[in-house]
Amino acid sequence: MEVIIVDAAADVGRMAARIIASTVSTKSAAVLGFATGSSPAGIYSELAAMVRDGALDLSSTTGFALDEYVGIPAGHPASYAAFVQRDIVGPLKMRTGSVRVPDGNSADHDRGCLEFENKISRAGGIDIQILGIGANGHIGFNEPTSSLKSRTRIKTLTQQTRTDNARFFNSQNEVPTHCITQGLGTILEAKHLLLVAQGEQKAQAIAAAVEGPVSSRCPASVLQFHNRATVIIDGAAAGLLELTDYYRHAFRSKP
Ligand code: F6R
Repeated sequence: MEVIIVDAAADVGRMAARIIASTVSTKSAAVLGFATGSSPAGIYSELAAMVRDGALDLSSTTGFALDEYVGIPAGHPASYAAFVQRDIVGPLKMRTGSVRVPDGNSADHDRGCLEFENKISRAGGIDIQILGIGANGHIGFNEPTSSLKSRTRIKTLTQQTRTDNARFFNSQNEVPTHCITQGLGTILEAKHLLLVAQGEQKAQAIAAAVEGPVSSRCPASVLQFHNRATVIIDGAAAGLLELTDYYRHAFRSKP
């Protein structure tokens, strides 16, 4: 795992966007995996700026979102389908319909999840998967004790996640209790995992994911099994790591 500690929170998005742009420049029909929420917002605004300046073209790029709430209409402003349209497809000038989002309103979730997995396979897999991390260590909505081999499925959200995400809704009661999420096994099949985090409220989860034992107690620790995982964090999110000197030295002396 490569751990990159940057000086300021804003540098997280800049550095991650550069890595993504470089992947797309070597494979124009790249398949991107998108996280929603606050952590990747800087990535999307950096990518949007590159597209506006003509330095990046994502018109042949397709993608998949990690997750979606169950039971709110796709048009609801807090739905991840709405996020993908508003913050990714539009500003990044991607083709309409080029980013698939799990269906949180399917009449048959098992079947919908299987179809979602099949679409990822038919697209040739995900080239670079953007990930945020929950304060409890979740990635996607794989809450603690999720199976390390799990596939896309319906999950129950923890109270902590519902509280953390209440800021996107009018009240905590409005936050759905369930979601559809890519599984940890699904996420591990992406060719490159790029996890970003900012702020001290993520420091404990980052320490457990990077330096703790691999355990479903901290689902993000499964990144330790991946052969190409990059973690980009600011100093506050790195605050509880023990080996920061080594990470900084390794990055500075990278060939
Ligand atoms: C969202 C997702 C989640 C978030 C995590 C952190 O698609 O996959 O794992 O990345 O809940 O959320 P923020 O970035 O809002 O703190």
